[in-house]
Order: sequence, then C-alpha cells, then structure tokens
Amino acid sequence: MKLLVLLLGLSTIVNAQKSALLKDAVKFPLGASVNPRLMTENEAYRNIAKNELTGMTAENHMKMMLIHPATDRFDFVKGDEIVAFAAATGKRMHGHTLVWHNQVPQWMKDFQGDQKAWEELLKNHIQTVVSHYKGKIVGWDVVNESFLDDGSLRPTLWSEHIPDYIAKSFQWAHEADPDAILFYNDYGQDGKPKKMKAILDLVAELKRRGIPIHGLGLQMHINVDSKRNELQEVLDKSVATGLKIHLSELDIAVNPKNNPDFVYEEKAAKAQSELFNYIFKSYAEIPAKQQYGITFWNISDKDSWLRGYFKRPKEYPLLFDENYSKKPAYTELTKSLNNLN
Ligand code: XIL
Repeated sequence: MKLLVLLLGLSTIVNAQKSALLKDAVKFPLGASVNPRLMTENEAYRNIAKNELTGMTAENHMKMMLIHPATDRFDFVKGDEIVAFAAATGKRMHGHTLVWHNQVPQWMKDFQGDQKAWEELLKNHIQTVVSHYKGKIVGWDVVNESFLDDGSLRPTLWSEHIPDYIAKSFQWAHEADPDAILFYNDYGQDGKPKKMKAILDLVAELKRRGIPIHGLGLQMHINVDSKRNELQEVLDKSVATGLKIHLSELDIAVNPKNNPDFVYEEKAAKAQSELFNYIFKSYAEIPAKQQYGITFWNISDKDSWLRGYFKRPKEYPLLFDENYSKKPAYTELTKSLNNLN
C-alpha cells in the first residue's frame, strides 16, 4: 500500500514536472520577439525570455530602419545584444527581416538611381546584414509581406525599382550565408484565397527557377473570431509546399474591434485559450522536419504591438499577463500538449 502511494506520488511529481513549462511540451523551438530595452530594464520580462523560450527574434532591431540608419552606416548594437543573449541562454536566433516596405529609413526612401543602383543598394543591405550574423542567425525572413489581399504584388519601393526583387533578394541572402534557412513571411492568408495562391505560386516559381527558398513564415496575427477551417487550410497548403513552416508572429486578439468598454473575462479568455490549443495541436501534427517553430509576437499582453503600435489598450493577445504571470491559457495549453506526448 505504502509503495502504491509512493508510486502514485512519484508519478504526480513527474507529471507536474512534465506539464510545468510550455517549451518542454513541444518538440520544436518556441520563440518570442523581443525588445532590447525591455530585456535590459525589466527583470520579469528578461526572466521569461530566458526561462520560457528556446528561440528568439528581434521585434524591430534588425529591420532596415534601425539596422541601416544611413547610407554607409549600419547599427548592429541592439541586434548584437539580442543575439548575445540568445547565444548565452542557448536559444535559436531567427532574423527578421531583410526586405520590407515598412520601417524603411528615410535615406532609402529618398534614394535616386537607376535599376542597377537600386539593386546595389539592396544587395549591399542584405549581404552586409546576413554576413554580420553568419553562423549566429539560423534563419532569415528574407522578404516580408509582398502581396496584397487580392494576390497582386504590393507596390513598394522595391517592386517599383527592382524587377524580380523577391527572387534576387533570396539569391543575395543565400550568397552571403549558404547555410541560412531562408523564409518568405506574410500575414492574413486565412480567408484570402487570392493572397494564399499568390504566395504558393511564388514558391512554385522560385523552386522551378532554382532560387533558394526554404521556408514559409505564417505570421498568425489572428483573433478569437478567426475561422479554424481557414487557418487549417492555410497551414495545409503551406505544408504541401514541402518547405519549413514557421508560425512567426503569433498573437490572438480578443478585442479585434477595439471596443473601449471591453472587459477581458471568462468567455473571451476561454475562446482565446481554445484557439491557442487548436493552433499548437495543428502545428504539432505537421511533419517534424517541416517544424521550424512557433514564435509569439512579444512576451506579455502589456508589451504587445497591438497596444503600442495599434493603440488598442484593451487587448490581451499573449500568454503572459500585465504582471508577467502565466495566464490560464498558458497552463491549459501546456497540459493539453503534454497529453498529446
Ligand atoms: C511591428 C512591431 O511589433 C512594432 O513594434 C513596430 O512598430 C511595427 O512592426 N508584421 C511584421 C512585424 O512582420 O515586423 C511587425 O512588427 C508586425 C506585423
């Protein structure tokens, strides 16, 4: 009898240990994007980054505007800080992002030149950044958000001045670091079949031409009303390319219409928790060799871009609350993933 009690006790301890951390309940890297200021100033934030993650992305500091502030000046200070933290704490570092239409420095917007000059500018940008982090950054979002919802190529500085800029960007990145895993990253493919098709067509075309593309980043800025069948379809179609799949910027908005009177209570929290479960379980089912990982877009609700950038103060899209405590959704998700294992 005593032995039975002891064994039951032991198995409870083992199960409790098993279910404690989300990162241990998944077989792929679990990351978050981080802000270097918070990493320095906020101990709770830093501790979560250190203890809860196995992967890491810079939320902003590797984007053109911050890493390449003037024609002949690159600023790697903050990016290097994040990379050093990731290396010291054993995390896989992901690079975000080499080519995007947002957060472009003014000097690039003002640049004048012919196609050749623009190509030189972009090639130099990509190759300087990729070379700087060679061997330290495992994968890069080479090109971010190139398509509009109707599937057409987004008119940007890059599409305007450099024909075929997507393929060229992948080639340039590959030349600088042949070992880097190269991603095309985009958002909101669910319920937008034309956008999804444009991305799949791009992948097919790049592959046909022998352009090095190795992964698809699905940003996954979704909300409690996002339709599961549509999310599943996006995942299935992305997986069918055979590329690695990164859920690269996951957050689940609970108050997508930014209702100022919104109260985050049980109903919304439960819907959110169930959708987190759904996303993680669907991802856990894709072939292991295609699982690059899941990355949250920042750490706690307080730090989310939905509050900062979109000015939606009544938003709670992540798994840690404003006090850096685990939300019930964290515990639920960890438990249900452990039951899968
Ligand atoms: C966002 C950051 O979170 C904000 O801090 C910044 O002000 C704007 O960019 N898609 C992307 C990310 O690929 O780079 C964006 O990050 C969010 C949408």
